[in-house]
Amino acid sequence: MTSIDDAKRTAARAALAELPEAGVIGLGTGSTTRFFIDALGELVASGRHYTGVPTSEASRAQATALGIPLLGDEGPWDIAVTVDGADEVDDALNLIKGGGGAQTREKIVSYSSRRTIIIVDGTKLSKQLGEKWAVPIEVLAFAHRATAAHLAKHGTPKLREKASVPVRTDAGNLIYDLHCGPIADPRALDRVLHEVPGVVETGLFIGRADLVLVASEDGVKRRAR
Ligand code: 5RP
Repeated sequence: MTSIDDAKRTAARAALAELPEAGVIGLGTGSTTRFFIDALGELVASGRHYTGVPTSEASRAQATALGIPLLGDEGPWDIAVTVDGADEVDDALNLIKGGGGAQTREKIVSYSSRRTIIIVDGTKLSKQLGEKWAVPIEVLAFAHRATAAHLAKHGTPKLREKASVPVRTDAGNLIYDLHCGPIADPRALDRVLHEVPGVVETGLFIGRADLVLVASEDGVKRRAR
């Protein structure tokens, strides 16, 4: 394996073996998931019957270009498997997600899925969440500075910007990256963050991953719940 991209591609390909023969597939967001959607598009082109539920406008555009049929955004859906990436994975298979700002839709889609499979390269593993990544938090634009002041009780919130312009999610909201350092109790942190008015969703995914496929130079390791 020569690069992180190779590892991402390998993890994405390994997820194909976990798919049912046909059915509804949740399509995650991010550079690793892009490889998975490409591979799913190949299966659809070869005659397999999959329908997707995209977790972002980027994944929707990619899937549409590849000819993968998609279900509507309203739900409800009965999703056999969602395949998604992650920014950080701890020993208990809890996750930080939202590097691409799609964590709200990603969590909704995962919640409607019978299984959630996470595909990562080996650099995403850590003992404790927060060792490597801040927690992305989608917030309403209304009173976002007040929301950030409440978030500051739990870490250092940084408004996500690109070229000095606040990043907007697909829903038109803002993102604060909450720098907390290693998180002793991710479930408890998730709970208190949800108590702050203005918080739409956090990037803490607790107990959501059924299987994590980790690709590195040693091959693909399966870590199941
Ligand atoms: C997007 C996500 C992504 O799955 C996460 O950021 C991982 O991305 P990548 O595969 O590009 O490293 O949560 O909101």
